[in-house]
Amino acid sequence: MIYLIGGARPNFMKIAPISRAFDKYDIDYEIIHTGQHYDYNMDKIFFEEFGLKDPLVHLEVGSASHGEQTGKIMERLEMLCLDERPGMVFTVGDVNSTMAAGLVAAKLHIKLVHQEAGMRSGDKKMPEEINRIVTDHISDLLFPISPQDRRNLYNEGIPYEKVHLVGDPMIDNLLYYSKNDIEGGSKKHILVELHRPVNVDNPRNLTEIVIALSQLSERYIVIFPVHPRTRKKLSEYNLWHYLDMVDHCEPMGYFDFHKHMNNAGCVITDSDGIQQETSILNISCLAIRDTSNIQYTIDYGTTDLCQPDRDKIFNKAVIKCASEEVSNFTDQLKKLNDGNASERIARVIKQ
Ligand code: UD1
Repeated sequence: MIYLIGGARPNFMKIAPISRAFDKYDIDYEIIHTGQHYDYNMDKIFFEEFGLKDPLVHLEVGSASHGEQTGKIMERLEMLCLDERPGMVFTVGDVNSTMAAGLVAAKLHIKLVHQEAGMRSGDKKMPEEINRIVTDHISDLLFPISPQDRRNLYNEGIPYEKVHLVGDPMIDNLLYYSKNDIEGGSKKHILVELHRPVNVDNPRNLTEIVIALSQLSERYIVIFPVHPRTRKKLSEYNLWHYLDMVDHCEPMGYFDFHKHMNNAGCVITDSDGIQQETSILNISCLAIRDTSNIQYTIDYGTTDLCQPDRDKIFNKAVIKCASEEVSNFTDQLKKLNDGNASERIARVIKQ
């Protein structure tokens, strides 16, 4: 029995294609939900949209400081694992749930898998960087999404035989649903998704960003589904008035968000996943980040990095909206993003 761990929004678009592949290859698995995210449109909506099976167990940890959240997941998952002894714990991504589940499995000598292994930004101030490093170094089987990530693992001394370069399940999901979703249309609007503490917990940075959005909203329709962390900070720093002309709303489900993404002139974000998805779809992306852990989206894709500075964001977004982007992927990247990564994972697991 494999425990497939899901907890926060970005996990669900990865476990969906992996569970489809597990079903196809007749691999016995159950979803364990940590409860790191719990609002309907950060969690349950994705189970409904992707037809994911109900979690076997919901650990209901909720929000807390990093230590408390990680500790609660560990305590509750350890109890479950001691009772049920799964044969394998399968983790995805880089959220607190990923590392917490990894630590539990490793300490109980349960085989641990990490999908999205080897991603590095080089910035240990990002909580995700710590989660990634810890999980990679205690995993038995590692699935990086790009050659660069595989190199990172080798450079850190992870044995070759543990690492399988298979591609990106999140892109499997994108391609799986894009058949229904993708439609042309006028590329006029700007879509915004922001939630990184470095941007939204810092009043100076968040102010610069919302002023840029305010200026952009004089020229373009700006659609901004607001993450709960960002929503809180906009209230705390009293910044909502900058968004008078911006179409802000609650976080969207996958299908709505992707409809807006497919027709965007530019997407402004600090999300890793959106950088990848826009590059695959040839959509302009401005990443409000100093560094990217997905270098290929900058080297060959459609992502540009941009500091949280009102003029830089405004000017770059205007240029991006006016240009036709084309990803210039190498043959290897095209092959890795062919929509079959999860099946390659399932075949390795089966062996
Ligand atoms: C987490 C991940 C981040 C990921 C992001 C995607 C970590 C360290 N961070 O960050 O890598 O990119 O999810 O969203 O694991 N909240 C709600 N409802 C919810 C969930 C959260 O209101 O369903 C509020 C809580 O008050 C919480 C805040 O949002 O304090 C932030 O949530 P949290 O899970 O701590 O971190 P994210 O910023 O979402």
